[in-house]
Amino acid sequence: MPNDVPPEDIREAETDTLRTKIADLSPWFHNLRLHGIETAPSHFLGDYPSVKFAGFRSSVPADLTGKTVLDIGCNAGFYSMEMKRRGAERVLGIDDDPHCIAQARFAAGVEGLPVDFRQLSIWDIGALGEKFDLVIFMGVLYHLRHPLLALDLIHEHVAKDLLLFQSMQRGSAGLMHIEPDYNFHETEFFDEPAYPKLHFIEELYSSDATNWWVPNRACAEAMLRSSGFDILSHPEQEVYLCRWRPLDLWQSTPDVRPRRTLSDPETPWSPA
Ligand SMILES: C[S@@+](CC[C@H](N)C(=O)[O-])C[C@H]1O[C@@H](n2cnc3c(N)ncnc32)[C@H](O)[C@@H]1O
Repeated sequence: MPNDVPPEDIREAETDTLRTKIADLSPWFHNLRLHGIETAPSHFLGDYPSVKFAGFRSSVPADLTGKTVLDIGCNAGFYSMEMKRRGAERVLGIDDDPHCIAQARFAAGVEGLPVDFRQLSIWDIGALGEKFDLVIFMGVLYHLRHPLLALDLIHEHVAKDLLLFQSMQRGSAGLMHIEPDYNFHETEFFDEPAYPKLHFIEELYSSDATNWWVPNRACAEAMLRSSGFDILSHPEQEVYLCRWRPLDLWQSTPDVRPRRTLSDPETPWSPA
């Protein structure tokens, strides 16, 4: 631009360029505000994920100085950028959708936040060869055909302390006492609404073919505990802050434990 262009015209031209770039990268799932321009102002869930985050932001450590964060299924990077703003030393956002990674890289660039975004599926997190102080696993579980395997992989390969978890929940929000064991002929408890249930979506739910399994509350909490994550707090209906604990589950079921990593592609599968 020539030197004699008034500053307000320069700002207007920059805003136009930003609007064009945001439009080029549409559709957006995350409604971000990039220099005041909203990326998804008509989101079906409202001002998402800001409205969601408002319900639990104070439950996440306010100061992440020196901490490392992995955001699995980062989408356009809303939570990754929020954690960087809290001082995290390193934030890695991964998503298997290259479109989301392009959005996230663009948004972090506009915001001037040094966040690392990589196209990577949750099934390949073993290839990272790194454990993180905080793992964010928000809004992904129900999009996976193998949800427990995802939690197992997180526990084994990338988590070492905190897990911030969210899943869509449907069915009862109640909790009931579960006995450590039941007689084979006792069956009524399976029909209790608050018994842990994972609803399988064979066709579509909300017109989204990637919605596979939707837990009720009891099931979401049981899956977390069963995968080695103790629930520290439940600040919002679907959100949990958990702490990693050692698990010896795999000693009894070594056959399903993924062994090979991408960084070691020559290693053959071994059962234990
Ligand atoms: C509902 S969005 C949630 C985005 C964000 N975590 C949030 O809570 O706002 C689900 C995200 O998970 C990503 N995703 C789905 N399957 C995945 C997989 N196998 N590996 C990594 N990311 C995945 C999708 O591309 C999408 O960005």
